[in-house]
Parts: sequence; C-alpha cells; structure tokens
Amino acid sequence: MLEARIKQTLRDVADFPKPGIIFKDITPVLHNPQLCTEITKALAEQVKDLHIDVVAGIESRGFLFGLALAQALQVPFVPIRKVGKLPYKTVQQSYDLEYGSATLEVHEDAFKAGQNVLIHDDLLATGGTVVAASKLVALLGAKVAGYSFLISLDFLNGRERLKDFCTQVFSLAKF
Ligand code: PRP
Ligand code: MG
Repeated sequence: MLEARIKQTLRDVADFPKPGIIFKDITPVLHNPQLCTEITKALAEQVKDLHIDVVAGIESRGFLFGLALAQALQVPFVPIRKVGKLPYKTVQQSYDLEYGSATLEVHEDAFKAGQNVLIHDDLLATGGTVVAASKLVALLGAKVAGYSFLISLDFLNGRERLKDFCTQVFSLAKF
C-alpha cells in the first residue's frame, strides 16, 4: 500500500528545527524516483473530479510535488512564496507556524476570478500555512476547490481550520 511505503520511507528527526518538534523529513522519499512517480499519480487521482484549473504550491516543500501534480493534471502551476521572493506585484498574507510566524505572497495575476484552485503542500500540521494561502486565493477572487498534502498530522486538527474554505482535504500519509 502506498501510504505504508511513504510512512516507511519518511525519516523522523527529533528536535528539528526546535526542541520538542519531530520533523517529518521527506528527502528519503525524493531519493526514490519510482515512489515519487507513484505519489504524483496518486495525488492527481485524488483530485481528478474537482475540476481543478490551477495548482498552487507553497514554498518551499510544496513546490516539489506541486509542479509535478500540475503537470499530471495538465493545468498551470502557481508558486505561493515567502515574502520578498516574487519579482512582480503581489498580495500578501501573514500567518502563524507550528514554530514561529511568516508572510506568504502570490503574484496579483496568478489566478483569474472564479478559478478552481488546488492548494498543495508537503505537510498539513496546524493548518496556519494553508489558511494563509487560502486567503490569498480568496483575495484574488478565485476559489479553493481542494487541498492536497503528501502528509497530514491529523492529531493537530489542521483539517478543522480548513473547513471554512473547502472540505475537500486529501493526504497520502495520515498520522
Ligand atoms: C512546513 C511544511 C508546511 C508547513 C505546515 O513548512 O512544509 O508548509 O510547515 O505547518 P502548518 O500546517 O502548521 O502551517 P515550513 O514553513 O517549515 O517551510 P519549508 O516548506 O520552506 O521548509
Ligand atoms: Mg512548507
């Protein structure tokens, strides 16, 4: 089963980036091209009925499978980046992290009004990151049609925070 293989391949790193945090390291997954291919196919399969117009991936680890997923769905990819990285005019949204706080931004022409946007990230923890990304989508008049994660830490109840935006939440490896 794909979920079991992802879980077996992930590496838990204790006390990174801060004491008490057990970090889910996806680099062993990235090291396995066959597994990456299967993951991309599975991510695309989960959202195939959502009529996705655009995949938005969140810097930085959401870029890794985000572009691959957009390619699999044959739709545009939009990078949502941490503040100060995008060259053109942007809209911004601040958020709290499991460990710290940050601001995300996206180009103001990234989405067209009414488009169905799939937000992809490697991991759902508290949900703060994708809530900020969802607000950026809404600010530009587009709609969050789904959330796609490689991993979700469901014991942190991040899914609960996403309900106001969209109830279509998918992850391949649930903890
Ligand atoms: C991690 C992870 C998610 C986010 C999840 O990213 O990749 O983006 O935290 O946390 P949340 O659900 O509590 O908001 P991080 O900000 O560490 O940056 P990175 O992806 O650039 O490594
Ligand atoms: Mg991240």
